[in-house]
Amino acid sequence: MTPPTLRLDPGPAGLERAAQLLRDGALVAFPTETVYGLGADAANGAAVARVYAAKGRPSFNPLIVHVPDLAGARRYGLFDALALRLAETFWPGPLTLVLPAAPDSPVSALATAGLETVALRVPASDIARDLLARAGAPVVAPSANRSGHVSPTSAAHVLADLDGRIDAVIDGGDTAVGVESTVVAVADGAATLLRPGGVTRAQLEAALGRPLADNRAAGPAKPASPGMLASHYAPNAAVRLNVTEVRPGEALLTFAGQRPPGTELAAAVTDLSPSGDLAEAAARLFGALRALDAAGAAAIAVAPVPADGLGEAINDRLRRAAAPR
Ligand code: TXA
Ligand code: MG
Repeated sequence: MTPPTLRLDPGPAGLERAAQLLRDGALVAFPTETVYGLGADAANGAAVARVYAAKGRPSFNPLIVHVPDLAGARRYGLFDALALRLAETFWPGPLTLVLPAAPDSPVSALATAGLETVALRVPASDIARDLLARAGAPVVAPSANRSGHVSPTSAAHVLADLDGRIDAVIDGGDTAVGVESTVVAVADGAATLLRPGGVTRAQLEAALGRPLADNRAAGPAKPASPGMLASHYAPNAAVRLNVTEVRPGEALLTFAGQRPPGTELAAAVTDLSPSGDLAEAAARLFGALRALDAAGAAAIAVAPVPADGLGEAINDRLRRAAAPR
């Protein structure tokens, strides 16, 4: 159906080609500072439908609309004072805002899964923003992996999942942050955390001057994130969390030099950050899960990772990777 996937470099010619492909309704994977996204013109319903098909993603799970700047975002979503403060503090950067959709928004109803809200993000990656500016269209970009699988932090990861199913990938090297954007819904003067990510809870609360509303306390009328399925980010291997010993045949994913009993017999050992740096651990997390899979381990034992700062997003992804499938 789709021709072989074009490999593009992030120079001006490659970005111009990619922008033209997006305007023509094609699917182009591109790097952001968090993970690689699978881009398509958000106003083109047929192109958005092909994103869901290429990923095998359920169409009730809405997509994030990417724009090059705040001025662009204001064409698609309604910003109140709180949303403006968050956008001005964290954009460009790894924050997605879920806002009421603008009444005249051209974003396809398929992209928002029919909701009256829209998720908006201005990525920090220069390559991403250059591409978005050249495309001159709002661009949906879910993580460029098969639905339910580990998110991609390199062009090679994208191709491992989607080669031959998408039109092109821009190779911008490894992504810097490594976990997805933090998703925050702003409604009725309150900000609710829907997904922990690259902007930490502490950073958000410092900008807000008060605690975030917690989505776990939300009733049926509160905002929800349809994409927060329990099983997600799953490698092929089974995943066991907070281990105190490594069982025979397991690979070990560890942090800050922890070596639980049994480590000597582990099939493979990866330390996300020997020095205990959570930013380094986030950047390496998805690549490490893919590499341990490739090493053929039947199960991955994961040592405890602290829950503060970026550790909240890391632990969220690990819990979903370990969830029953
Ligand atoms: O870092 C990121 O956010 C990456 C890069 C490529 O930008 N994108 C990404 O997209 O992670 P995706 O599709 O894998 O995750 C989008 C999340 C899902 O959990 C989805 O349910 C939620 O955002 N979402 C999108 N629109 C929403 C809406 N209107 N209301 C609530 N949640 C929404
Ligand atoms: Mg995803």
